[in-house]
Amino acid sequence: MTILSPRFCISVTLAALICIMTISVVSSVADSLPEPEGKALWTYISETSPYTQWGQFDEHNGMQPGNAPHGTMHALFVNNIGLASKGQAQYGTIMVKANYGADNLLKAFTVMYKSKGYGQDTGDWFWAKYSPEGEVQAEGQPKGCVGCHKSMKDNDWTMTHLW
Ligand code: HEC
Repeated sequence: MTILSPRFCISVTLAALICIMTISVVSSVADSLPEPEGKALWTYISETSPYTQWGQFDEHNGMQPGNAPHGTMHALFVNNIGLASKGQAQYGTIMVKANYGADNLLKAFTVMYKSKGYGQDTGDWFWAKYSPEGEVQAEGQPKGCVGCHKSMKDNDWTMTHLW
C-alpha cells in the first residue's frame, strides 16, 4: 500500500477546496437575480441569463397579436421561476415581451420583474421598457404600465396568462 505524504494530502485538499470555492462563486453569480433597476435587469436578461434561452407559456407561445400600447405582434419569454409558478408569480419571475410593429421590426422590450419588497402597491412588480438596443426608456412603477395592468391585479397584474 502506498503511504501518501502529508504534504501531498494537504496540496490535494487545498486544490479541491479552491476548486469547490470557485465553482460556488461562479454559480452563485450566475444564479443571483438582479436588483430591480433598469440597467441591471437589462444586463441580466441580455447576458447573465439571456431571455432568448427561456421558455414560453403554453397558451401564449410563438408570435402573438398584441394590443395597444404594445406592438402589433409580440413574443413573450418567461424565466423558469415564472414558468413553474402556480396561483401567482413567485418572486424572481421575469417576463420579457418583445414588441414588433406592423413592419415586423422589433420596436421595444417591455419587462415585468417580481422582486421581493419592491413595492406592495404594484404587487412587488418592477416594470421596464427598453429600446431594441437595451436603452432604458422607462423603469420602476411607471403610471402607464401600472395603471393599465392594474385591471388584472387579481391575476397578479398579468394579462396573457392565468397563474
Ligand atoms: C393600456 C394598457 C397597457 C399599458 C399602458 C401597458 N400594458 Fe403591458 N400589456 C397590456 C396588454 C393588453 C397585454 C397583453 C398582451 C398584448 O396585448 O400585447 C400586456 C402584456 C404585458 C406583458 C406580458 C405579461 C402580461 O402581463 O401578460 C408585459 C411584460 C407588459 N405588458 C409590460 C408592460 C410595461 C413594462 C408597460 C409600461 C412601459 C406596459 N406593459 C404598459 C396592456 C398594457
